[in-house]
Amino acid sequence: AETLGASAAESGRYFGAAVVPNLLNDASYSAALSGDFNSVVAENVMKWDATEPNPGQFNYSGGDQIVNWAQARGMEVRGHTLVWHAQQPGWVQGLTGNNLRNAMLNHITNVADHFEGDISSWDVVNEAFEWDGSRRQSNLQQQLGNGWIEEAFRAADAADPGATLCYNDYSTDGINAKSTGIYNMVRDFKARGVPIDCVGFQSHLSWNSDLSTYQANLQRFADLGVDVEITELDVGGSGSGQANVYRQVTQACMAVARCTGITTWGITDRHTWRPNDTPLLWDSNYQKKEAYYAVLEALNNG
Ligand code: G3I
Repeated sequence: AETLGASAAESGRYFGAAVVPNLLNDASYSAALSGDFNSVVAENVMKWDATEPNPGQFNYSGGDQIVNWAQARGMEVRGHTLVWHAQQPGWVQGLTGNNLRNAMLNHITNVADHFEGDISSWDVVNEAFEWDGSRRQSNLQQQLGNGWIEEAFRAADAADPGATLCYNDYSTDGINAKSTGIYNMVRDFKARGVPIDCVGFQSHLSWNSDLSTYQANLQRFADLGVDVEITELDVGGSGSGQANVYRQVTQACMAVARCTGITTWGITDRHTWRPNDTPLLWDSNYQKKEAYYAVLEALNNG
């Protein structure tokens, strides 16, 4: 097929982008988004600081805008993210013990309930592991202990049993200590019936990233009985080095039956979280880059 989304759809996959509500009114941005993608995720507006700025006071305006825009165009919406150590509102940061536990559970319940039926897959917990495979010593970990991730998944499942529930992290781009720590958690969750359906691999990469075990890593998670998703793909650099990394990631997803889709963390180099870099598929003037054509070809030849 001739677009990223339609090409991915031929194998039952999605191809998505992280978006910000304000830019949906920008003609070039919305043309690229609606022309090539069949899934979106909010880059920021579904996070805790945006959705619950004060305790028990919820604000879904940005998320609703994205959901409405996407549904009007037949696109899926991923959810990002219910619980994270970063972008917590100030009032959460000082909570201790059961006050933090109740705040977390109440937040998950309300947000997942509000968007129930609209979200294909939720990043329930984001970035809870360190590079060495241990748990990140966040306020959640320190206040709630090892069980907090399981508690978060059980609350999300109760609120939106139809959504695919994901654990999402970065620097998991191969078989390494961090991905193995996560692997062991997922294996334990599956063995004990904790409701986890998916693992997200953010994949913030560079033109010289070592991807020698990227596909094998996706496969070992899939073999545990979860879907795998490429959730925040972007690749620093330019030209054919960048295009080759995009191609390898796309080919790896196509080669793993349970890899259900790819999301890039933005659309155009004009709007990216990586300053002074050009990590996306459209340049800052909305011209398709070599990397775009590499991805399109890999989706069609997979
Ligand atoms: O909304 C405020 C605005 O009111 C204020 O005037 C302005 C001044 O700094 O800041 C705005 O907030 C910024 C927000 O993006 C929205 O633009 C924050 O400062 C800024 O830190 C925040 O950055 C986001 C970052 O997550 C926060 O950690 C990036 O846009 C977003 O791309 C990035 O996304 C993360 C994923 O969620 C998780 N994985 C890694 C990925 C990249 O860091």
